[in-house]
Amino acid sequence: MSRSNGKTALGQSPLRRKTTEEDKILDLTLRPKNWEEYIGQAKVKRNLGIIIGAAKKRNESPEHLLFYGASGLGKTTISYLIAKELGMNIKVTSGPAIEKAGDLAAILTNLSDGDVLFLDECHRINKVCEEYLYPAMEEFKLNLIMGKGPLARTMELKLPRFTLVGATTRIALLSSPLRSRFGATFQLNFYELEDIEKIIQRSSQVLGLETEPEAIKIIAQRSRFTPRVANRLLKRVRDFAQMEGEGIITKKIAESALEFLEIDEKGLESGDKRILEVIVKKFDGGPVGLQALAAATSEEEDTILDIYEPYLMQLGFIERTPRGRITTKIAYQHLGIKYKVNQTLL
Ligand code: ADE
Repeated sequence: MSRSNGKTALGQSPLRRKTTEEDKILDLTLRPKNWEEYIGQAKVKRNLGIIIGAAKKRNESPEHLLFYGASGLGKTTISYLIAKELGMNIKVTSGPAIEKAGDLAAILTNLSDGDVLFLDECHRINKVCEEYLYPAMEEFKLNLIMGKGPLARTMELKLPRFTLVGATTRIALLSSPLRSRFGATFQLNFYELEDIEKIIQRSSQVLGLETEPEAIKIIAQRSRFTPRVANRLLKRVRDFAQMEGEGIITKKIAESALEFLEIDEKGLESGDKRILEVIVKKFDGGPVGLQALAAATSEEEDTILDIYEPYLMQLGFIERTPRGRITTKIAYQHLGIKYKVNQTLL
């Protein structure tokens, strides 16, 4: 392992790498099995309790539900809990996985009455498939077009009644016809620090780890208020405890592991800092457009939008203005750079 870039044995940052098979297994092990085990998002939980409870009383499927928020905040976990609470099966797909109308037809016709269909990244479904989805959501019908030109015929397929649970990190990219077909929309916010501490405590128990309360606090502070990051960091720290200590996650082990991973006390790593530094040094604190920022940092625009920016904005380090992104005074302070009043914004 190289000390220079703070990356793991997989060569990827524990904070922003894509979800791997290992993560999925970890997520499955640590995922809360029922609402009692689910920590945080109290308002969403209460709201869902009413929607699901009332639908069950009426012996009906609940309306279609839409969740949006930054990645790692529990959209998938909540969908599984909804299905569990309803006592129904869940089928999982995603916007980019549905390439043709036939793909959508195969998924929808394989559902059973009452099933939950989880559609991740629903903002990425293509336009043609999206239009097939409208009557499926509204009337539980699929109008397939067979053939082309004057011989084209439509065939109407009756579908089982299902609940579509859509998830997106980019609510603004969802078309309004699609958005309006969901009966309720929920925003998942970053978690409270105390809730992240409780999640780490629970995950430690599930994994059979001995973790000092001080170590939990240190990991929580650097978890970007995000359960997925908290669980990933806990696992990395566990590796350190096993290799460099007695297996117990002490405050000292947690500190040295996170220092090794180059994750600072606010949970920022080199990629976050590079973005801030580029805005400060190359663009004089901004405003800078997304395209220019992506080019200057060699990051993809989507990575900036989905991974870096939500947390940097949550910390108040970056603000979006009509003319682009700007860094704030507290970002300069965090970087240890002398603040200069942004002349362009005066
Ligand atoms: N693991 C991941 N997210 C969780 C949550 N919200 N509550 C409990 N455990 C979790």
